[in-house]
Amino acid sequence: MKIGIGNDHSALEMKAEIIDYLKERGCEVVDYGTNSTESCDYPIYGEKVARAVAAGEVDQGILICGTGLGISLAANKVKGIRAAVCSEPYTAKMARLHNDCNILAFGARVIGPELAKMIVETWLDTEFEGGRHQRRVDLITKIEEENA
Ligand code: RB5
Repeated sequence: MKIGIGNDHSALEMKAEIIDYLKERGCEVVDYGTNSTESCDYPIYGEKVARAVAAGEVDQGILICGTGLGISLAANKVKGIRAAVCSEPYTAKMARLHNDCNILAFGARVIGPELAKMIVETWLDTEFEGGRHQRRVDLITKIEEENA
């Protein structure tokens, strides 16, 4: 699986740990930055990863900022993106199983690296269930299309 990853200045150490974990799992990783600790604007990196996922350049995305909120809000403005902030594995599981989310977001100032790895593990190991959930995801897409 090919994963695109992006972050702001608050999440460099967390990103390094997550990239190592993804590579250990055999994932290919594309790093969209930032790779500086200098204060930056998280929407830039949220958009980069979101566009890569929407274009099919990568299979899934991971976004990390201080809380996971700002960077996921930016990503969710890109057509076809369903980014979810997950601070524990249950939400990560349901975000894939029921919501077919294609970007996982979390906060480097909210959770530690070991919990983050458990969340990523759950995310990667869970497939979309489809069925009645497909209908609901389609309704989300319909709202997006009506507002395009
Ligand atoms: C940066 O200070 C912080 O605002 C950002 O990382 C993120 O938490 C925004 O949602």
